Amino acid sequence: MSRSVVVILLAAMAIIFQVTDGSSSDRHHRDATYETVPPWPFPNHPRYSVQRGGALPWSLDQNSPENPCDSVSCPRGRECAVTDTGATECICLQKCPKKHHLVCGTDGVLYSSHCELHRKACLMDKAVGVDNSFRCLMPPVYKQFEESLKYEDTKETQTTPFSSNKPDISYYPSSENPFAISSLESTVMTTQQDITDAVTTTPVYCTQQEYEIMKDNLLLLNHARLGTNNNGGEGSHGRDLLVSLMFSHFDENNSGLLEAEELKRVGAREQLSRLSHRCSLVDLLRYEDSDGNNRLDINEFYAAFSKLYSVSVVTLEKSLEINHITARVRDNVQIRCDITGSPAPPIVWRRHGVDLSTLGDEDIRVFSDGSLYLMKLQLHHSGNYTCQAQRNHEVVQTHVVSVHTLPQVRVTPRLQSKKPGDEAKLECHATGEPFPKVEWLKNDAPIALSRLDDKYSIRGESSVLKISQINYADTGAYMCQASGLAGVSRDISSLVVREDAVSDGIQEEKRFYVFHEKGVSVYDPNNCRLHHQIQGTDIVPGTQVSFVDYVCGEKGVVCNWGRAIAVSTRYIYVTQPKKDRALVISKEQMVVVDVVATDRYPVELSYIPSLDQVWISCWRSEDDHGARTLQVIRDASQKKSHHTVHPEPIDGQFDLVKDFFPPSIQEFGDQFRFGYVSHVNQRGLYKMNLQAMRYVKAVDLAPYNCVPRTVQYSSLYGLVIMECEEPVTRRPTGQIVLDYLTDIVLTHKASLHGTPNMSPDSRHLVTVQHDLHGVTILVQETTPTGLRFSFDVKTSLNISDVTFHPSSNGHGFDLFATAADKDDLLYLNLVSGKVDIVTGLGEAMDPVEVQWGSPNRPITSAGVFGTYLVSPAKGAVFVINGETRTVNCEIGNLSKPLLNVWLY
Ligand SMILES: *[C@@H]1O[C@H](CO)[C@@H](O)[C@H](O)[C@H]1NC(C)=O
Ligand SMILES: *[C@@H]1O[C@H](CO)[C@@H](O)[C@H](O)[C@H]1NC(C)=O
Ligand SMILES: *[C@@H]1O[C@H](CO)[C@@H](O)[C@H](O)[C@H]1NC(C)=O
Ligand SMILES: *[C@@H]1O[C@H](CO)[C@@H](O)[C@H](O)[C@H]1NC(C)=O
Repeated sequence: MSRSVVVILLAAMAIIFQVTDGSSSDRHHRDATYETVPPWPFPNHPRYSVQRGGALPWSLDQNSPENPCDSVSCPRGRECAVTDTGATECICLQKCPKKHHLVCGTDGVLYSSHCELHRKACLMDKAVGVDNSFRCLMPPVYKQFEESLKYEDTKETQTTPFSSNKPDISYYPSSENPFAISSLESTVMTTQQDITDAVTTTPVYCTQQEYEIMKDNLLLLNHARLGTNNNGGEGSHGRDLLVSLMFSHFDENNSGLLEAEELKRVGAREQLSRLSHRCSLVDLLRYEDSDGNNRLDINEFYAAFSKLYSVSVVTLEKSLEINHITARVRDNVQIRCDITGSPAPPIVWRRHGVDLSTLGDEDIRVFSDGSLYLMKLQLHHSGNYTCQAQRNHEVVQTHVVSVHTLPQVRVTPRLQSKKPGDEAKLECHATGEPFPKVEWLKNDAPIALSRLDDKYSIRGESSVLKISQINYADTGAYMCQASGLAGVSRDISSLVVREDAVSDGIQEEKRFYVFHEKGVSVYDPNNCRLHHQIQGTDIVPGTQVSFVDYVCGEKGVVCNWGRAIAVSTRYIYVTQPKKDRALVISKEQMVVVDVVATDRYPVELSYIPSLDQVWISCWRSEDDHGARTLQVIRDASQKKSHHTVHPEPIDGQFDLVKDFFPPSIQEFGDQFRFGYVSHVNQRGLYKMNLQAMRYVKAVDLAPYNCVPRTVQYSSLYGLVIMECEEPVTRRPTGQIVLDYLTDIVLTHKASLHGTPNMSPDSRHLVTVQHDLHGVTILVQETTPTGLRFSFDVKTSLNISDVTFHPSSNGHGFDLFATAADKDDLLYLNLVSGKVDIVTGLGEAMDPVEVQWGSPNRPITSAGVFGTYLVSPAKGAVFVINGETRTVNCEIGNLSKPLLNVWLY
């Protein structure tokens, strides 16, 4: 019941807004990108608090304790009476309490209260209901809206979690003249939230909230008309003058008192019904006549206007409209809103239009003094925050928050010895936002630029320092230094020049694991030699006593692997989907140290370093039909026996999950505390608090017809990028960029299909789009205002898998992409757009032999300071030198070597 009233009010107002304001379409257009305000399916986390009204304004049991009527309850409009014989009887109410809550009856009559309606119905012996559409009050001009009202009405009755919802946030750009009359209607609009709350509770005629708005608007209008010249500063003073001017203006016969007649006349003459649809000037008497004499004196009139946080008294100095704030990661920042008023107005903080006090994020708080507190800042907190008075949407202060990181540098090698005449190579990798200035120092002094040509060569933004024709004087500490706004960071690479130095020439490289049908093999990528082997028939250590457990099975059983990931520097986790378990392999001992039982068909694995959790997503069948279940292994890098737990179920069910999208590990080490989960057949996402393993929010993507197929995260500027598909047909429906903090859709590119991949430094998003003619690789850059198109490359190669590999001419990353059906490897420089092809990668595995949704031609990079990439092929693994872009070696005689992991 009350629900439909809300809708009607809103719909009627929205229409008024459009009818009376010619520029409204522009306004709507401007905000069209910020559209999603999802419903809130979780009762324990209200999006906003609703003010509940008190008890019913009248009561039926006013009888004395021993009255026989005590045990009788009568229908509405009736009361219990004791007859002469002592029996009880429900008779029509004699009198209703003097409460003015106008209500329309279904008989088209306006009643002064619900009680009165039911009383009259009883007296007339007729059935009269409450007509929540207030049709009996509708001036003729409103009749035309009836059709749309009906439409809204039916729409509202569907309450599925992801029903399409109209935005309930409105935006009001400041007009040239903030007091222009045309802005009045928008002021009325702005408070629809308040009205919603009030009406949901008690459907009444002129609500307190709407009344307050009318007063606001009245003040605003008279400010414009009576032209008091007051633009802030002495706010309350100017307002007093305005209020007294208004009083004498309304007091037509100069009696010093305002009466209903006068208010009615003024209201009609000046068409003040525009100020509010439900309230009129006469309501002033209802709310403000404190001495009950049906007139307002000047003091009552003053009191009426001193209570509100009026539009006209809210001010912000022009120079403060945009406030730039720079802070460092992990800082706590308190931001004051510089909007002032008298009395101090309640402040609303928003990001992308979302009221931040409704976010339920413990690190983002709005204090009662009107300031915003951002705790433990992360890069994804950067962006714009606006504050404004709750009632005033014309005066807005924008706080542009830039989060900086302390630059990080790492060098390799830490120590090397060279013979005189040799050449030495030192590498440096720097990260930071904004990207720092990187330079090499020798023994604390910058390396002389004049000598760059002969002695030193520095390339790739100081990522490589080469020293040629080494002599004894070159011995020293070479320091790579990164300086940024937030500080300076250094790392040292030492060079020792000795006649007897053993010139290895080859740097220490990371090793890699290959998972194949016979077991697990560990290789050295430089010489491609087998370093260690775990056989599938090996017995899992520690299981010999009570029962014997094999890594894969007894002789003749082939291994079947799902996914494998590195967990900190200690373990590798690998799933065995057909054995319903995950194995934990110690990198140091190179043996299986733990076996973790899971649900059926555990496949995907992801590691959340900041929480030390491994998340497993388990399929319901071998070909991934239907839902999945999620499981979590906590303390995943700890030396202990591990087990899984389920995250909080939804509707008592664990197996509604379609897909889990964990935050990807990025260089900045940003601590994403939330991941996203999609559910079967729902156009939307649930946001999950990873630590608590609980759902916190629903994100409605129905307007975009989107179920995410892939989700990527950018630490920089807190972007979440999604590849969308239609849930039933799986037709691609474009790319969505979401704001991580508020889950507001920032952009939707309906024609941009393909799988997005975020580079480890958060600087580039690479989307691989397959179509009839081949593949388009589209490169976008992350910027403070979202993604910006950089370039695209078309190729006839049928791309199977891509990976990022440290750039050989900078601190960033390049792309390597394998082909599903050719022995070519595509290289793409993400900065310059330069393309190269590496050939001779052998034959890819037959797609039908590939299980668990893996690409048939996977590729992985050794990462920062790693020279090599590894790509499993049919019966072999290829090691590629990423710097020279040539095949380093082929490791053959491997049976289905589909998975590999680098050892860090
Ligand atoms: C004007 O003033 C007198 C009091 O002086 C009052 O009684 C009268 O009703 C007033 N109102 C109107 C609408 O004339
Ligand atoms: C933030 O606000 C500034 C100043 O109004 C504006 O230039 C910038 O584009 C805004 N950024 C975003 C991401 O909206
Ligand atoms: C590309 O490779 C995939 C996987 O091997 C295959 O399913 C698809 O048909 C290929 N596309 C083209 C255009 O050859
Ligand atoms: C391949 O490896 C198996 C053991 O896994 C070995 O018995 C066989 O001789 C090897 N074949 C070749 C050609 O190296």
